[in-house]
Amino acid sequence: MNRTRSTDALAAFIGALVSTLILRGLDFGHAPWYISRSSGLVAYVLLTLSVVLGLLLSTRSPRPLVPRALAFDLHRFISILTLTMIGVHAGILLFDNYLGFGPAEILLPFASDSEPLLTAVGVVAAWSLVAITASFWLRRHIGPRAWRRLHYLSFASWLLSLVHGFAQGTDTAIPFVSAIYILSAAIVAGLLTYRIGSRSGSRTPATTVSPQAGPGNRESRRLASRAASD
Ligand code: HEM
Repeated sequence: MNRTRSTDALAAFIGALVSTLILRGLDFGHAPWYISRSSGLVAYVLLTLSVVLGLLLSTRSPRPLVPRALAFDLHRFISILTLTMIGVHAGILLFDNYLGFGPAEILLPFASDSEPLLTAVGVVAAWSLVAITASFWLRRHIGPRAWRRLHYLSFASWLLSLVHGFAQGTDTAIPFVSAIYILSAAIVAGLLTYRIGSRSGSRTPATTVSPQAGPGNRESRRLASRAASD
C-alpha cells in the first residue's frame, strides 16, 4: 500500500517536472506575470486573515468574536490556502520569459537578479510560512512551548510579506491596492497592541482588587482593606 503511494508520488513528481520543462519552452506572453501578481495579492490578504484569526484565538476574551473551535479550523485552513497561493505566485514565474526566474531564483534568497533584496524578502517569508504551517502537524513532536515560539515567527513573516508586496509590487500604484496594505497593517497593529495589553493586564491578578476575590485569599483581603482605607 505504502509502496504504491510512493510510486504514485514519484510518477506525479516526474510528470510535473517533464510538463514544466516542456511548458517553459513556450511563450505565454504577460499571462504568468498577471497571474503571479494577482495570486501574490490574494496570498497576502489570506495571510493577513490568518494572522488576524490567530490573534483572535490567542487573545483571551470572555466573549470571543468567533467561537474558538471555528477560529482554529479556519486559521489552519486559511494558512494552507495561503501557502497554495504563494506556490502559484512564485511557481508561475517559471513560465514568465521576461523576468527570467528559474527554480533557484524561486527557492533561494538573493539568487534573482530582479530586485534581489525585495525578492529575497519574499523567499524568506515563504520559507518561514512553510515552517509555521508544517508546525500544525508537528505540535505533538516539538511540544507546545516550541510550537508557540515558532508561531510568533508568523508576525515577522507577515511583516516581510507586507514589505515585499508593498515595495516590489507593480500594483501598489493602484490606490485600492495600497489601501489594502494600509488597512491590513492598521488591523494587525491594533489587534497586536490589544493582545499585548490584555496579556500584561492578566499577568498581575494578585495586585488587582476584584469584587470576586475569595474570602480565603489573605493577599486579596489585605489588598481590599488597604484599598478601602485609601
Ligand atoms: C518564493 C517566494 C517569492 C517570490 C520568488 C516572489 C516574487 C515576486 C515578484 C517577482 C514580485 C513582483 C511582481 C511585479 O512585478 O509586480 C512579487 C510581488 C508580490 N508578492 Fe511575491 N514572491 C514570493 C513570496 C511572496 C509571499 C510569501 C507573499 C505574501 C504572502 C508575496 C506577495 C506578493 C505581493 C502581494 C506582491 C505584489 C503584487 C503586485 O502588486 O504586483 N510574495 N513577488
